[in-house]
Amino acid sequence: MAPGTKHCVVLLLCFVVCVVLTTGTADKPPNIIIMLADDLGFGDLSGFGNTTLPTPHIDKLMKEGVKLTHHLAAASVCTPSRAALLTGRYPIRSGMVPAGRMRVNIFVANRAGMLPNETTLAEVAKSVGYKTALVGKWHLGLSKDTFEDHQMHPMNQGFDQYYGHILTNMKDFSEDGERVLTSQRPRIYYSLGSIVSVGILLFVWLYKKQYIGKVPLVIGVFLVLAPAVYFVFAFNMLRILNGIVFRNYEIVEQPIKLESLMKRYVQEGMEFLEAREKDKEPFLLVLSWDHVHTAMRTSKEFKGRSKHGRYGDSVMELDWGTGEIMNRIKQMNIGKNTLVYFTSDNGAHLEESDMHGNSDGGSNGILKGGKAHGAVDGGIRVPSSVWYPGKIPANIVIDEPTMQMDMFTTITKLIGADVPRDRSIDGRDMYPLLEGKKLISPHEFFFHYCGPTVQAVRYRPRSGSTVWKLAYEEPDYLPGTQRCLFACNCEDAIKFEQPILYDITSDPGESKPIDISSDKKYKDLAELMIKATEEHKASIVPVDCRLTFFKILWRPHMQPCCNFPYCSCSDHKYKHIE
Ligand SMILES: *[C@@H]1O[C@H](CO)[C@@H](O)[C@H](O)[C@H]1NC(C)=O
Repeated sequence: MAPGTKHCVVLLLCFVVCVVLTTGTADKPPNIIIMLADDLGFGDLSGFGNTTLPTPHIDKLMKEGVKLTHHLAAASVCTPSRAALLTGRYPIRSGMVPAGRMRVNIFVANRAGMLPNETTLAEVAKSVGYKTALVGKWHLGLSKDTFEDHQMHPMNQGFDQYYGHILTNMKDFSEDGERVLTSQRPRIYYSLGSIVSVGILLFVWLYKKQYIGKVPLVIGVFLVLAPAVYFVFAFNMLRILNGIVFRNYEIVEQPIKLESLMKRYVQEGMEFLEAREKDKEPFLLVLSWDHVHTAMRTSKEFKGRSKHGRYGDSVMELDWGTGEIMNRIKQMNIGKNTLVYFTSDNGAHLEESDMHGNSDGGSNGILKGGKAHGAVDGGIRVPSSVWYPGKIPANIVIDEPTMQMDMFTTITKLIGADVPRDRSIDGRDMYPLLEGKKLISPHEFFFHYCGPTVQAVRYRPRSGSTVWKLAYEEPDYLPGTQRCLFACNCEDAIKFEQPILYDITSDPGESKPIDISSDKKYKDLAELMIKATEEHKASIVPVDCRLTFFKILWRPHMQPCCNFPYCSCSDHKYKHIE
């Protein structure tokens, strides 16, 4: 071989090695962090136009990545919205819609929740060797049939490890006597008392008149009293029954201490990241913050810091936690190949207030309505962003409509896993949109549910720039407001005889209803959207309803308790944290 040729071979080899090495790292699938806020509204962040509530860390995350200004949750309440985000499916497909009025899970000890045979993003990530962790709120069930079967626990849904609050925050967890039940129905105990008294009097009267004997009297009185006692007990003990923090399968705290929760979640998140820095395994970390749901509690550093009461303090602590994680990830080697997705499970809860009537809810900015209002945008259009430095451009705003379910599919593809093929997946890959390779939403139609009912459909035509929304139903608001008494119910919604059209692009606040019979153009649009809705509905296969009245009922025999009968423990790891 001539010396020149030798040189060439060496160079060529070197080149091949270089290419393999560089493409090897370039194509390495990213680590994934999902940060999910609770009830954070469209108008709560300074990056979304709030001028009096500074959220510098979340804003920075949005500036360094893509800000999604038209990103939609699949439901306007937590439980179904979270189910959809984790499965990429409309909640109705997984049975995560109610048969009755209750759209969310309200007890730890019951049978409601998402079946383990759903394929979650965590399971998908595990299938390609990712380490997975959930820190924070779950709200998708615990045990399915028996005490501690833990079939719906996060670790049975794909998470290798778990630290957090198994249900949801509730205002009952504060120690100042606030109650979800009486804030919604202030006169409930009078009504209950009256029913019980009438019932007992009736049996006593029957006995006095000698229509019944002693035994039926006792049985009758018991039958009247027992449900009332059960009811009063369950709803007055929520703090202990539901305020439970798990580390993996073990209860480490009961009742929950809200003041230090954010700090502890940050700490747990950091520890997981540090472990991955060491073992270099790819990972999915879901940080499901309890903020900014009632009860509003923060550490003392944030108490009274904002101009917006304890709600504002909570938003600021959420911002702090986000900043801590982002700063850490940027210092780490793994940070260079990490995608961070920030979003909120639904809009701000406008009706929420403390016992003195002061607002405890956030702002949805220009949007109409809020949490629990079904299909209006204030309930489902949530402040969101995606950060993936070097891969998706910085400082870009995407106003194309997308759904949280899309991130299921986007992440699945990005990490090189297979999108489940044995079931309907509604999420679509939005990565080309994020990268700027495509400029249009992957969806033409979006369906907006309130419980099991499609209340509206959104349409993104394949040309032009206008997004349309056709509302079949709207919440039954208190006259002159955009609010219900405590939360809007799907059943009470006003059903329009002729659906109402909105040009969401020029009228994001849904304040200028368009009469579809006023112009053929609108009529045609509506027809197209109605047809799409019918096709969508026809694609729904009936499944076991996971949120029936009986599944949601509190079951004393399924009640987790760290040390019966006290049910009182605190997490030793965080003895020193306030
Ligand atoms: C900023 O957020 C607070 C808290 O939600 C809210 O009261 C206020 O109205 C918001 N401001 C704007 C301009 O949206």
